[in-house]
Amino acid sequence: MTAPLTPMPGTLRTPRLLLRRPRRDDAPAIFRNWASVPVATLYLSWRTHQSVSETETHVQTTVEWWERGSHVWLITLPPSDEPVGSIGVRVHDSDADLGYVLSPDHWGQGIVPEAGRAVMAELFARPGIASVWAHLDAANVQSERTVQKLGMTLVDRFIGPVVHPNVSDAPRPCLKYAVSRSEWLEWLPSHPPSAID
Ligand SMILES: CC(C)(COP(=O)(O)OP(=O)(O)OC[C@H]1O[C@@H](n2cnc3c(N)ncnc32)[C@H](O)[C@@H]1OP(=O)(O)O)[C@@H](O)C(=O)NCCC(=O)NCCS
Repeated sequence: MTAPLTPMPGTLRTPRLLLRRPRRDDAPAIFRNWASVPVATLYLSWRTHQSVSETETHVQTTVEWWERGSHVWLITLPPSDEPVGSIGVRVHDSDADLGYVLSPDHWGQGIVPEAGRAVMAELFARPGIASVWAHLDAANVQSERTVQKLGMTLVDRFIGPVVHPNVSDAPRPCLKYAVSRSEWLEWLPSHPPSAID
């Protein structure tokens, strides 16, 4: 049996970003910046939100995840406190999976790779974590580039059970990308932060 994971910090800082825990009053900004934006939610596992109340429920869920050992940070660009995206990890026995979304207003600046690097450094600082992985829709080239910028490589192709309901109700061709602890430690020194944006 795996030892319990040392708690993850509620706040993470990177050169450009501050990642923080969600608050209930973030719902309107989350709704506006990505939850209601079809191009941002296209390949996510939940339907594009039609009302702020849906986002409020979603935010409440992410707040509760922290009590159950999974974590969602909101991505902010100081000095602004407004969330422009989110990044989360679900911790399993000896691995963790990564998920993320960013407002299209900020795409293409390497923001999620920067955030992901900080989150993965925290994960791999915990000896119980042997690998970090992500599932993505095979058509989601933007996300594929993101995981590649985090040192992950393609380890599997599969169809279902994952559904991306904004594309189709049928299971979609998906990819699994992953990086082990040893691969990460080998990859990191030759990929400085400046090389990922
Ligand atoms: C995937 C995502 C988080 C990437 O975040 P990001 O901070 O923009 O990441 P990057 O800046 O590294 O850009 C990644 C790729 O997106 C593409 N891209 C960049 N700007 C873009 C834009 N304005 N429009 C469309 N694609 C763009 C490029 O292919 C880029 O790769 P490159 O740097 O090799 O050219 C973001 O595109 C997003 O939120 N997508 C919708 C949500 C989603 O799909 N989440 C993942 C579910 S598995």
